[in-house]
Amino acid sequence: MPLNLQYDVNLEPYNSLGVPALAQVLVVVSSVTELREAVQLASEKKWSLLVLGEGSNTVFKSDFVGLVIVNRILGITAFEETDEIVSLTVAAGENWHGLVESCTRKGWYGLENLALIPGTVGAAPIQNIGAYGVEVCETLTEVEYLDLETLQLCSIDNFACDFAYRDSVFKKGLAGRAVITSVNFQLTKNALSKLTYPSLVERLSENITGSSSPTPLEVFAAVCEIRAEKLPLPSTIPNVGSFFKNPIVSAELHAELKKTYPDLVSFSASQGIKLAAGWLIEKAGWKHKSIKGVRVHQSQALVVVNPEHRAGQDVLEFAEAIREDISLKFGVKLEIEPRIY
Ligand code: FAD
Ligand code: EPU
Repeated sequence: MPLNLQYDVNLEPYNSLGVPALAQVLVVVSSVTELREAVQLASEKKWSLLVLGEGSNTVFKSDFVGLVIVNRILGITAFEETDEIVSLTVAAGENWHGLVESCTRKGWYGLENLALIPGTVGAAPIQNIGAYGVEVCETLTEVEYLDLETLQLCSIDNFACDFAYRDSVFKKGLAGRAVITSVNFQLTKNALSKLTYPSLVERLSENITGSSSPTPLEVFAAVCEIRAEKLPLPSTIPNVGSFFKNPIVSAELHAELKKTYPDLVSFSASQGIKLAAGWLIEKAGWKHKSIKGVRVHQSQALVVVNPEHRAGQDVLEFAEAIREDISLKFGVKLEIEPRIY
């Protein structure tokens, strides 16, 4: 079957920020064969290439001149199962939340804290998605990708992915070189979820009476509840989730800020102290500001929303105004979290 190429496509339905940019050419691929053909074509035509999952972490600052490949390669296979574990290969175009829900319901645990994160499985390793005390690197065992230079399928293990907070080798050494085709996970049948995140623990203690520890399905439900309350649904209010990473600062700066702001929210992290960027943005008064229709979400100031479907450039200018203000007020540099094209 020839590739179904589309020209001058409005990317608004393909990015959850609702930015109305154009793709010069776009193709939806549903197999590795089609993916390889599309990559070969882009190379022959000297088109730039961008692979999209569900566009829930992507900001288009202008039209995309080149080929956008939308990954819809599907399939989930359990290739090993014992009384304790199950190992899965999941194709990159599968919906992340669909995977989490089906695994949790089957009694395969480890993903339940990551419920309701938008996007595809193939994008999950890129920034090592994380929420409510868990990161995807805790259950991911292997990533298969198409090498854009050699057109060979390669596999790398968890260690080689070089995972860190919102980071991986796919944003560093392999940036622009790898299209992820599938991800392997090892899940457990041990019904003991990780319960370290304060707001999750609090919610579970409200939901569950008695002394028994919550089941992974209860954890899944509580995460869905918290997220539904705090985070805007992109289909209703366009957004890409957190617009900035939570900054890690030195103990000295933390102590200084704490003197001025005793209510400063922070958590200890491996290389220093992690501040809640949402708290800084709220404290700086951004819940009451809007520029060209772009603003922050009322119940989560770390989320920039674009209700009027403004251009990516307008959203980025708003984000830059926040960065400058936070730097000025707190001496903290915020780093943008979504990918910009
Ligand atoms: P896209 O936006 O399509 O792509 C993101 C990046 O990955 C781009 O650079 C793209 O080129 C690249 N990419 C995508 N697929 C592939 C592939 N197969 N191979 C190679 N590169 C690829 N993130 C969290 O970590 N935790 C959260 O709690 C969280 N909450 C969110 C809540 C909301 C409401 C929203 C809108 C977003 C949230 N995010 C969160 C961000 C987002 O859900 C994740 O980054 C997700 O993994 C993006 O998936 P996607 O398929 O939409 O990626
Ligand atoms: N806070 C405020 N005001 C706000 C927002 C947050 O004061 O407007 C404070 C609150 O005190 C809260 C603390 O910040 O206790 C932390 O807030 P929250 O639990 O909502 O988490 P977050 O640090 O703002 C991070 C991730 C989210 C992830 C949640 C849950 C980053 C950049 N963001 O947000 O990920 O869902 O934790 O684990 O690390 C994403 O990456 O897109 C994303 C949504």
